[in-house]
Amino acid sequence: MNISKFVTPEIIFGLGSLSQIGESALRLGASKVFVVSDEGVINAGWVEKALHYLRAAGLGTEVFYSLTTNPKDFEVVQGADKYLESGCDAIVAVGGGSPTDVAKAIAILATNGGRLRDYEGINKITRPLPPMVMVPSTAGAGSEVSQFAIIVDTQRKLKMSIISKSLVPDIAIVDPELLITKDAKLAAATGMDALTHGIESYVSLAATPLTDIHALNAVRLISRNLQKAVENRQDMEANTNMAMASLSAGIAFSNAILGATHAMTHQVDGLLDEHHGEANASILPHVMEFNLPACPERFRDIAGAMGKGVKGKRVMDAAEMAIEAAREIIEDIGLDKGLAELGLKQEFIPTLSRNAVNDACLVTNPRDASVDEIEGIFRKAL
Ligand SMILES: [Fe+2]
Repeated sequence: MNISKFVTPEIIFGLGSLSQIGESALRLGASKVFVVSDEGVINAGWVEKALHYLRAAGLGTEVFYSLTTNPKDFEVVQGADKYLESGCDAIVAVGGGSPTDVAKAIAILATNGGRLRDYEGINKITRPLPPMVMVPSTAGAGSEVSQFAIIVDTQRKLKMSIISKSLVPDIAIVDPELLITKDAKLAAATGMDALTHGIESYVSLAATPLTDIHALNAVRLISRNLQKAVENRQDMEANTNMAMASLSAGIAFSNAILGATHAMTHQVDGLLDEHHGEANASILPHVMEFNLPACPERFRDIAGAMGKGVKGKRVMDAAEMAIEAAREIIEDIGLDKGLAELGLKQEFIPTLSRNAVNDACLVTNPRDASVDEIEGIFRKAL
């Protein structure tokens, strides 16, 4: 039997759609909302705008923003305590992948108790979560539509993947206007994350026709818009296309899961605290090389979506063009750096490799990878 399922929130997309946040929370039965964000997004003015719309809808509000890039377990514990004290009955996130993942993790602890580590892996959450509305301020993480929350376990120094259908937010509001306050470096790193989501979900063992459409759409849009969006942060057409790309990639990977690149970057992120998208840029082409013999037709499709002329080419030749296209994008947006340049020391590689084979994302990688093979990829990416 070949059974698959597909989950997605209600999605509100378009310039100015942040204005729907109050009505959206109200429809979910909220009376007081817990708004999770971070300092950068607050300084950009988006939280003030969101609070205006929430209060205009008659809702009480409480803001929590004590969190960092690559959100940590202890930040979630503080957030969950504050949520429980506040008397809130719904959670809203305004921000990139960090506030969104923290909002989801707060929802877990506040209603299911225990420690975050108890929920690592797939489908460990048993009690219902509060209603959740998510508004992304970056085009990359895709957390606003996904069943993932990725949080750093500070003791083990690695990122935990918590995957559960109950982490899919109720409503995702994707307003491309929020992207204009993101700087070029963040636009490049987050866009690279979205590209990695598109590619890994398309070659995933759990890919289905429903996820394929979204994965290829993301890859196509990113190939044509990421460089433009990085070079001109005011280009609203490129920003809007990147918002749609990130959304599509999020829908794809939420349902098809990811692969070895993410299994590896989750370890690097937990150790170095660099932007997840930069580590993806260093590792992705090497994982594509490793995976290519397992599914060359899939890589040929990716090359085609990235604008390479694959017609009439031998499958292996066409498939290799996908790696070439990925390298070109990475170079064009200035992320062509090895892991050593991001601060990774050679002596960490054996531990990172042992942890990577236990990451939930490796299960759907199209080619089995042993600890030694992962070590080999890490060394190439160094
Ligand atoms: Fe990612």
